[in-house]
Amino acid sequence: MTPQVFAMPGNEALAKGLATALGADTGALAMRHFPDGETYVRLDSAVASQDVVFVCSLHRPDDKTLPLLFAADAARDLGARRVGLVAPYLAYMRQDRRFQPGEAISSVTFARMLSRAFDWMVTVDPHLHRRTSMAEIYSVPVGVCHAAPNISSWIKDNVVRPLLIGPDSESEQWVRTVAQDVNAPFTVLEKTRRGDRDVEIIVRNIEHWRQHQPVLIDDIISSGRTMEVAVKQLLAHGVPPPTIVGVHAVFAEDAYSRLLAAGAGRIVSTNTIPHASNEIDLSIAVAHSLSETALT
Ligand code: R5P
Repeated sequence: MTPQVFAMPGNEALAKGLATALGADTGALAMRHFPDGETYVRLDSAVASQDVVFVCSLHRPDDKTLPLLFAADAARDLGARRVGLVAPYLAYMRQDRRFQPGEAISSVTFARMLSRAFDWMVTVDPHLHRRTSMAEIYSVPVGVCHAAPNISSWIKDNVVRPLLIGPDSESEQWVRTVAQDVNAPFTVLEKTRRGDRDVEIIVRNIEHWRQHQPVLIDDIISSGRTMEVAVKQLLAHGVPPPTIVGVHAVFAEDAYSRLLAAGAGRIVSTNTIPHASNEIDLSIAVAHSLSETALT
């Protein structure tokens, strides 16, 4: 059954794109805050006996998660057959172990919470670092959509003689795939993270690529420090202003302006998180993952 698509506030554009790609109806939902800050949610479309999906990108997740859980629970209570979640950006994937004694392993707790609320989920390039699959922490089916094919298409259309660059070893998975797709060379930088906003990056053997257009690719641009330091180091090695491609445009605090100030060239992202830099539309790719996850 094709699910009825509900956009949580701020997710209307992607929800509309998904509904169009699926040939699905969109549902109406109202949400507001009471004077004391508590959240009011109302589903204005009938959901009894229907499959429904909520679209909610989970950047800055603490404000979004509780309203999302209220909406999902309301749908179930109103008789929905199955309740799914499309979270193009899935939060709380990075604290995946106890680095210091006493720390909460938030990725596990968050996964448990969402797995109780939804029958299935779809996300885009979740930050699986020390985990190998979503099934290690999520107990419901999770469809994983990859942004790499769309990033490759964008690079083919927009960059002449690209040199793809991963700012750290984790980014090699995306950079290698995209490099193969676009038939371009790639290299990976050496990053050491010393704190939330403190990273060191070493660039090696870049000199012979000076005639290429550097394209930095990473999954998450959060504080932006990784990309900022990478841009500065690359410029110091005499390459042209790097193009930056991020899957998830979190851009916390002043990250975007810092990147521009650091000397980045073009900055683009996918539309997993609404942002002015969204030039790579994943609606069709996400709709495809949804079909595979929810309609089978
Ligand atoms: C590393 O774990 C991720 O792939 C990104 O490199 C990281 O999340 C970027 O964070 P920030 O923008 O805060 O340096």
